[in-house]
Amino acid sequence: MASITIRNLDDATKEKLRLRAAAHGRSMEEEVRLLLGEMTHDVALSSPVSHLRSAPLFKGEGKKNPAQFLAGRDILLIIGGGIAAYKCLDLIRRLRERGAHVRPVLTKAAEEFVTPLSVGALAADKVFTELFSREDEHDIGHIRLSREADLIVVAPATADLMAKMANGLANDLASAVLMATDKPVLIAPAMNPRMWNHPATRRNRATLAKDGIWFVGPNSGEMAESGESGAGRMAEPLEIVAAIEKLLDRRPKPLSGKTIVMTSGPTHEPIDPVRYIANRSSGKQGHAIAAALAQLGATVHLVSGPVTIPDPEGVSVVHVESAREMRDAVEQLLPADAAVMVAAVADWRTANEAGEKIKKQPGETAPALQMVENPDILAGVGHNKQRPRLVVGFAAETQDLLANARKKLDNKGADWIVANDVSHTTGVMGGDRNAVRIVTRSGIEEWPDMSKEEVAERLAARIAAALRTIEV
Ligand SMILES: Cc1cc2nc3c(=O)[nH]c(=O)nc-3n(C[C@H](O)[C@H](O)[C@H](O)COP(=O)(O)O)c2cc1C
Repeated sequence: MASITIRNLDDATKEKLRLRAAAHGRSMEEEVRLLLGEMTHDVALSSPVSHLRSAPLFKGEGKKNPAQFLAGRDILLIIGGGIAAYKCLDLIRRLRERGAHVRPVLTKAAEEFVTPLSVGALAADKVFTELFSREDEHDIGHIRLSREADLIVVAPATADLMAKMANGLANDLASAVLMATDKPVLIAPAMNPRMWNHPATRRNRATLAKDGIWFVGPNSGEMAESGESGAGRMAEPLEIVAAIEKLLDRRPKPLSGKTIVMTSGPTHEPIDPVRYIANRSSGKQGHAIAAALAQLGATVHLVSGPVTIPDPEGVSVVHVESAREMRDAVEQLLPADAAVMVAAVADWRTANEAGEKIKKQPGETAPALQMVENPDILAGVGHNKQRPRLVVGFAAETQDLLANARKKLDNKGADWIVANDVSHTTGVMGGDRNAVRIVTRSGIEEWPDMSKEEVAERLAARIAAALRTIEV
């Protein structure tokens, strides 16, 4: 049946299926069989083709429909007795709007900061507080609580709770559950910076990390106590949600074990200490690709020019300013399995950067800028003796897009050029959408207009498929 289904698919869907199958290391028939298996839970088998068309590339693609990703997952949330406990009310809300089921446990101290009533109302579930509860312990409730969850989250994790966990104490419901569990545990520490840096907490942190406990935060900044600042602020609810999503991510990791070097964003070429030449690149496309590659399990080293967007999740980032700094950083990161060079690197820089701010002198004509060529980072990687197996470049053009892209493919030693039209009218530079063409030696693939995240996911799947087939 599967082979008949595949033959009947339109070309775009077939291509999507091919990439998906390759990314999962399966045949297309196997992929269809698994998809159909997933669909039988809630979809009639009678029209698999139409459902396949609308199916996401990967199950639970968070960005497009975050509600799907945590849907149906059980999270046991242990709330410790710290000021940051109030943020847990928002955390519960965020998790529930993504479809997760949250079962709260409050320590005695936590009840001093938030009430079981508000926690229970937001979680829409019973709140557990007592170890010695006649009602809940008739079937050893603390063991049940610890086993029924997909993940245990401790937020805020107080210095006290961390000490108990590190030393195996189990003298209240929260600590007994944590001792009895065989599920992953994520903690969001929150405490005064001196408590966080105390030698005892440091020892406990090291022990917990060794025991396989996951951490999110703490962040640095102002504390609730006036005049105190430093490391110890609990991670924000959305950061905790992101960490939970990462831990519960069941998607396949076809790029695990692979290292990918990337560039993203513009470069700034100094004129003098206060002025520079820049371009309109926002880094949105490159950063989205880095995140998508990391999602598929790759170790991604991103060299980012100056951008105003946050570093992508799960990616190690080197921040640079100029093309020469970017080139040096990229060279240091080789060898790698693949290189994806997305940055809009300035072609030229000023010939002689002024050491002091160039002053406007009355009566003098405007200074002329003399330019020299910048290093070609893509060509440097494409012709490097440590050349990655796959080299992908980007071509941002305003005219003769395909001719320029083809020329770039040959001149720069790249395997693919992702060509995009950055004319002012397209809104690509700095915008959220992109319509790209993949230019390879075997032809040109035209992708429809889509969000930069979708371009990133598709390209990451294509890279995963290619790395599996390219000879070393
Ligand atoms: C106003 C106030 C705020 C507190 N904030 C924190 C905190 O942010 N982090 C922390 O580790 N302890 C904090 N404590 C101390 C804990 O409440 C105390 O260590 C308690 O025993 C923790 O219990 P638990 O770990 O069982 O929740 C605070 C205490 C008070 C009175």
